[in-house]
Amino acid sequence: MAISLHQPAFSAHSTFLSTNTTATNLPPNHHLRLPLSFRCNLSLTSNSNPEPEPVYSSVKSFAPATVANLGPGFDFLGCAVDGVGDYVTLKIDPQVRPGDVTISDITGAGNSSKKLSKNPNWNCAGIAALSVMKMLNIRSVGLSLSLEKGLPLGSGLGSSAASAAAAAVAVNELFGGKLQASELVLAGLESEAKVSGYHADNIAPAIMGGFVLIRSYEPLDLIRLNFPTEKNLFFVLVNPEFEAPTKKMRAALPGEILMSDHVWNSSQAGALVAAVLQGDLVGLGKALSSDRVVEPRRAPLIPGMDGVKKVALEAGAFGCTISGAGPTVVAVTDNEEKGREIGEMMVEAFMVGGGLKAVAMVKKLDTVGARLVSSISR
Ligand code: HSE
Repeated sequence: MAISLHQPAFSAHSTFLSTNTTATNLPPNHHLRLPLSFRCNLSLTSNSNPEPEPVYSSVKSFAPATVANLGPGFDFLGCAVDGVGDYVTLKIDPQVRPGDVTISDITGAGNSSKKLSKNPNWNCAGIAALSVMKMLNIRSVGLSLSLEKGLPLGSGLGSSAASAAAAAVAVNELFGGKLQASELVLAGLESEAKVSGYHADNIAPAIMGGFVLIRSYEPLDLIRLNFPTEKNLFFVLVNPEFEAPTKKMRAALPGEILMSDHVWNSSQAGALVAAVLQGDLVGLGKALSSDRVVEPRRAPLIPGMDGVKKVALEAGAFGCTISGAGPTVVAVTDNEEKGREIGEMMVEAFMVGGGLKAVAMVKKLDTVGARLVSSISR
């Protein structure tokens, strides 16, 4: 039995990665085979490939938090943030019915263990794991899954997507990494649809890392946007003690919008994509702050949000908006220390304007996405 620790050493600027290296030398997301500019276009089809053999008896995976929407990119833009996320440990378990998954344990952030179902059909990690097993045609082996939540539920940091991404990657890797990133996104999307709504702007960056544009859902067409590595980009994430369930925050949105708002938001989203590719932080911040469709409907549902945004911009952030469906607020800057100062002021503004306690963190972009962190071979 050999335990291998998978160090996060892979750079998003690698060219296509070889798949024939030995498992212990593999970069953490070798299964993704991401080129410099990744693009996929596919729909879910039934898998007629032979059932793969498990490569490991146990794996542990990690998937990062994500910031969805990025202002004007509602349901089609998102990015992954470094150093905070969920872990999944997956084991081959002879006690579990072949082709099935059981959830043995849920631990971690806040009250997640009490709130999340251990029924795999109603748990994001369980749904994604079952979906990947189906894609791979797994019929002879049962799995048990343990979920370690690093992200609070309903926080706007892609908590459900991180669990689904970690589970999808864990199953895929356990059976030799046969599926592509885009297929794992489809598995995660099945999970997202069941728990929070049909949107891939958390699950795609959670799996692929970096910034991702969802160009189409039917068929799924993902474009990975590479932010220049030499540029400093820091996300200030301020999470108040307040739950904003995605379903409720989606229900607050209008069914129709004004043509003038459509034109404005489309141009801002275009500008945001250009700014990401050019590493233009001022342009990125300006576009991030500019949403006229979604933020105006959601901000009033987050106590203190308007004041928090105002303070962030006054303190020198390039831009600020709601992270995903909220209530976390995200601001961007180019300096970590400055990010901490901005964060402190935003925390204070949440208390003053909304009566809410909040915590701030300053994070970089995660360019790797969901990956194995350790494995035990058979
Ligand atoms: N695009 C989704 C929404 C993201 O804003 O509802 C949820 O995290």
